[in-house]
Amino acid sequence: MRQNPATSCLVHIFVCHNQRPPGGLPSCGASEGQAIIDRLRESATRYGLRSRVWLTSSQCLGLCHKDGVTVAVYPQKHFYQGVTQEDCQELIQKYIEPLCMASRDEGW
Ligand code: FES
Repeated sequence: MRQNPATSCLVHIFVCHNQRPPGGLPSCGASEGQAIIDRLRESATRYGLRSRVWLTSSQCLGLCHKDGVTVAVYPQKHFYQGVTQEDCQELIQKYIEPLCMASRDEGW
């Protein structure tokens, strides 16, 4: 095993995309997972931060919710349940826009 010290990732956002068969436990994939990840990716791209903001569709994060998607943000270790497209702007303001400002201030 070899550690890669060259990663440029500053924030890694996992968006649950798990889809269970109908009739069982709720699952995020039946909600807006893809739309949410597309919107966050579009924002990271717009701010020129695609290599700094990693976005990953994940399987079940263990916090299933019937009214939206589960999102996990690292390294902050923040977890959100019931995320909808209406919450994307808040996630962008909290995790992506500050990186944009830092990149301008620090010139990276
Ligand atoms: S199905 Fe998304 S957290 Fe479990």
